[in-house]
Amino acid sequence: MNQTIDNLLQHVSVRNFTNQKVTTEQKNALLDAAQSGSTSEFVQAFSIIEITDSKLRQEISDITISSPHVKEADTFYIFVADLNRQAQLLKAHNQSLDSIKNMESLLVATVDTTIAAQNMATAAESMNLGICYIGSIRNNIKKVAQAIDLPKYTFPLFGMTIGVPELKNQHKPRLPQKNQVAINSYKQLQADNLSEYDQKVKTYYANRKSNPQDTTWTEKNLNIFDHIHRPEVAAFLKEQGFSLE
Ligand SMILES: Cc1cc2nc3c(=O)[nH]c(=O)nc-3n(C[C@H](O)[C@H](O)[C@H](O)COP(=O)(O)O)c2cc1C
Repeated sequence: MNQTIDNLLQHVSVRNFTNQKVTTEQKNALLDAAQSGSTSEFVQAFSIIEITDSKLRQEISDITISSPHVKEADTFYIFVADLNRQAQLLKAHNQSLDSIKNMESLLVATVDTTIAAQNMATAAESMNLGICYIGSIRNNIKKVAQAIDLPKYTFPLFGMTIGVPELKNQHKPRLPQKNQVAINSYKQLQADNLSEYDQKVKTYYANRKSNPQDTTWTEKNLNIFDHIHRPEVAAFLKEQGFSLE
């Protein structure tokens, strides 16, 4: 349809990078793109921290367990949901901090941060760079926050590795629109209408270049949600000043 949409439809997460550098000019463009996203009520509730220190990269890569590309990719950013700037402004003007502590503000910061990251991802892919989100920094969210000196009213949401792709898997097939898009009201999933999609995903996993697997989308999800992930995140967010209410 057009180049932007073609690029979006070709997205794949990249986990193998060449040694080629991401240039300073490219990094500046990526950061400008991230900062230019929509932002709830113009609060701009995120910060981006580039991790260049190799010891720190190793430490964070170890925390992710599954993502050695955190230390191998040329560039690694941590996206921080950030209401600390607002906290400082409110304190300086003797205003209560209650309104930045609640769940709605936490959602605002999470969404703002995610929009910035996805803008960066789209910009990177438009320059033929590869990206991978790294949610597994939350395997030890507290340690990551301490390692990068995060203050109250902030938290590390995810990282993003960026570099020149060495290997790219095929595009991962997405749910059929009939299972994800509706008009006027929500459409409940019928268990049996995923069988065609499961077969498609099975073929994708069997044939992909890296880490082939014998699984379907249904099986993956049953495995992912057979236990509670990172229950300690809530306590950490409370320590950071959020009420979760
Ligand atoms: C918020 C978020 C966190 C993610 N965390 C990781 C991660 O820690 N490690 C990793 O290898 N991939 C991670 N991914 C990549 C997903 O596994 C990937 O997007 C998904 O399997 C779809 O594949 P695709 O991006 O190649 O289409 C993450 C993606 C998102 C959106």
